[in-house]
Amino acid sequence: IKRIAVFTSGGDAPGMNAALRAVVRTASSHDMHVYGIYRGYEGMIDGDLERLERGDVGNIIHRGGTILKTARSKRFMTPEGRRSAYESLLAFDIDACIAIGGNGTFTGASVFTEEYKIPFIGIPGTIDNDLFGTDLTIGFDTAVNTAIEAVDKIRDTADSHNRLFFVEVMGRNSGYIALNTAIGSGAGSALIPESDMSIEELIDTLKMGARRKKLFSVVIVAEGNKNGNASEIAQKVQQAFDFYDTKVTIIGHLQRGGSPTAIDRVLASRLGFAAVEGLVNGQANVAVGLVNGKVQYTPFEDAISKEKTLDNDLVRMAEILAQ
Ligand code: F6P
Repeated sequence: IKRIAVFTSGGDAPGMNAALRAVVRTASSHDMHVYGIYRGYEGMIDGDLERLERGDVGNIIHRGGTILKTARSKRFMTPEGRRSAYESLLAFDIDACIAIGGNGTFTGASVFTEEYKIPFIGIPGTIDNDLFGTDLTIGFDTAVNTAIEAVDKIRDTADSHNRLFFVEVMGRNSGYIALNTAIGSGAGSALIPESDMSIEELIDTLKMGARRKKLFSVVIVAEGNKNGNASEIAQKVQQAFDFYDTKVTIIGHLQRGGSPTAIDRVLASRLGFAAVEGLVNGQANVAVGLVNGKVQYTPFEDAISKEKTLDNDLVRMAEILAQ
């Protein structure tokens, strides 16, 4: 393998730049030429590639976002789009690709590598932490830290006014961000997609708190939970139980930005390094991850189809600690 291409795709995640830096520098150490593709699969289709050398990825390890830009490509979902992408890779003599992204990115890579014989390695970059084959995805730790910082601030005002806050966090269909934010911020409850907690049960828990003279409360709402969005839930709760004045905060895209935490920088560096080393050692069409601290390669089909389950003990613990 002499020439590789690297790109970021899907929702950006803090630490993507650190992963890119590791890819470029590890590949350079193997005397490979690296091309950066701009805007993910969109740039692959348009032939928007540029040579990246060691110096081009200096001073980016601490930066959020992605210097390669990113996109969610509809065109890549079509056979014509993928054919154009293949032609671009041929035009630049690319022998292998490294894709930094989440589920959609790996799904695209899986389809593409069945049609065209160019090896791909995936690096899990998404704040959602919803990918099988790695304990942590790049960006998750930073997103949770951002959410916890926000909840710490909300606590101050919730406490001053005796209010009940519903704080909505991202995560798509996964409750990882919500559960970890709830545990780390000491929030009262978390409504997550993986649990069956109903509004009635939530109200009972809140009433119990009120009986114990709990004068304010914060409930973390995962965007993918089954009871509706934070505003809908807040309205239903307020109608049934007006002990507290309720407020809603949606943290939203704040969770996607910012300088990556130490955990994300180190994780991204390790995964970027392992992606290139994997290619050198013959790995193809797999996602690289860290499981129990060790590098692991998981076929794309498994990474995208197998469910990464939340630890039930952690859910139980969160409920007990919140009481
Ligand atoms: O996958 C990352 C994520 O931030 C999800 O948590 C969220 O549902 C989605 O992306 C939002 O996407 P967009 O930025 O395209 O609105």
